[in-house]
Amino acid sequence: MSVADKTDQISRRSFLEALGVSAGSSMMLRASAAMGLAAASTSCGGGGGSDANASPAPQTPPPPPPDDGGSLASPIPSDWPSNAGANKSVIILGAGIAGMTCAFEMLKLGYTCTILEASNRAGGRNRTIRAGDQIEEVDSNQICNFDADDNLYFNPGPARIPHHHEFILGYCREFGVALEVFTNDNKAALLHSTSAFGGQPQIARSMVADTRGRISELLANAVNQNQLDQQFSDGDKTNIIAMLRQYGDLDSQLNYTGSSRAGFEGQENTGNPDRESMLSPKQLIAIVNSNFWQSQQEFSQSIDQQGTLLQPVGGMDNIAKAFEARVGSTITYEAVVTQIRKTTNGVNVFYQEAGAAETSMSADYCICTIPAPVLVNIPNDFSSAHQSAIQGFQYSQSGKMAFQSRRFWEQDHNIYGGISWTDQDITQIWYPNNGFGQDEGIIVGAYTFGTTAGSNFASQSPEQRISSGTSQGSQLHPEYANEVNRGISVSWPKVPFQLGAWGISDPGILVNADGNIYFAGEHLSILQGWQEGAVLSAYHAVNGIVINDTT
Ligand code: PHE
Repeated sequence: MSVADKTDQISRRSFLEALGVSAGSSMMLRASAAMGLAAASTSCGGGGGSDANASPAPQTPPPPPPDDGGSLASPIPSDWPSNAGANKSVIILGAGIAGMTCAFEMLKLGYTCTILEASNRAGGRNRTIRAGDQIEEVDSNQICNFDADDNLYFNPGPARIPHHHEFILGYCREFGVALEVFTNDNKAALLHSTSAFGGQPQIARSMVADTRGRISELLANAVNQNQLDQQFSDGDKTNIIAMLRQYGDLDSQLNYTGSSRAGFEGQENTGNPDRESMLSPKQLIAIVNSNFWQSQQEFSQSIDQQGTLLQPVGGMDNIAKAFEARVGSTITYEAVVTQIRKTTNGVNVFYQEAGAAETSMSADYCICTIPAPVLVNIPNDFSSAHQSAIQGFQYSQSGKMAFQSRRFWEQDHNIYGGISWTDQDITQIWYPNNGFGQDEGIIVGAYTFGTTAGSNFASQSPEQRISSGTSQGSQLHPEYANEVNRGISVSWPKVPFQLGAWGISDPGILVNADGNIYFAGEHLSILQGWQEGAVLSAYHAVNGIVINDTT
């Protein structure tokens, strides 16, 4: 990392603290909104929060921070005081991205840090499954039977990083975690509805081209015939029509008669390169009735879901491992928290290591990143407002499944990376964005976004998920029936010490400390369901402690 980068990163990270110290709490609150913390109630979760149906609604961007005369736009170049933590101790509950970010930053400030991690590994939901790995759910165990190969892995939790998630990407840069492109939107992939187009999957490109064509046709003719309430000057009319002809690929009569943009007849299969035969354009009503426009077709328009995102080369857990390499000495693994108590000037945390009796540890502070569905069952003396916020906190029920297979999507269908969508419970099929051209690949055969699909998935045994995932997948790719194998799945609501995929409730009072107990985790950020949210929530907690210790 260059010095300039580092200065920029430090200053951005610390500007909350500087504002908090110098300008008091209202400034602090506004800065928190800018960092994506305090304003969570107005936009919590975006797509993560809109979990009612099988597919997510497109995310709306977070609201702009309140106008403060411009100071929020330019971070204040100062840092948390480097000795803020001298003679101070903190117990961090959970060695996920939020917990390890707290430890990494607080060690630099001189705090004595201890992370209690309930499982036997660091990373939390940041996990990569490879040959021989074990997946434990509350009522099942699976072993991953993929072949051992650097490209044969499955990220059941976070799997893509948007370009503007600059803090998690900053750590990748700082830690030397290599990144590559994650294709989110591949127009060669498929859109499938059991009730549209006779259940035939449609190439995404043809849906996009025909949607644009039909809408442009409608609008260009309306403008041309002065059918809109709004009247345009002749010059504006000419320009609007010119734009719509370009946007929709209309002919000179303003008709949409199909477009080469939609692709060519037979494009879905290799060995069929008749690039001359144009597809007949779909009718507007058929497009409307397909419902693909609800989110699938426009998924990559949202602020957090671009056409291409980033992924660590070799698996998402390279980020977790990089953090662990730096803070691992502070982690006690397989330490299950049994009570969280306040003391006069600090905290007392009770926990149990594997096979040992309950013991306790006290410290000046606690940062609790334990997911709400787990925390709700840990005895504590939090304020009743904090307790009821934890009690009612909802999580996405999402899960994922993956198969090993011959890369039929590349070899037979010219699909390299990206996502196909279906209205069946599996919701999505993800083609691997690594190892192009190899014989075998890992295809994500289900990513159950919605509550119904997620709950159905959770209630199935791993074997049932494989069989229903295979039959649903074969609606898009008949190869599924004979070729996908070694299926493995993770249903987050069933994973011990997680019990949910990501937070979808309003964080409410949980962004405020309760005495010396602070809370962090993606669920308490404006970027729920993202590692960047976990990092922002960690900064918020660290910042609160630093302010407490320095003012
Ligand atoms: N970040 C996760 C993903 O990209 C979960 C998520 C989905 C969060 C959609 C918000 C919106 O799949």
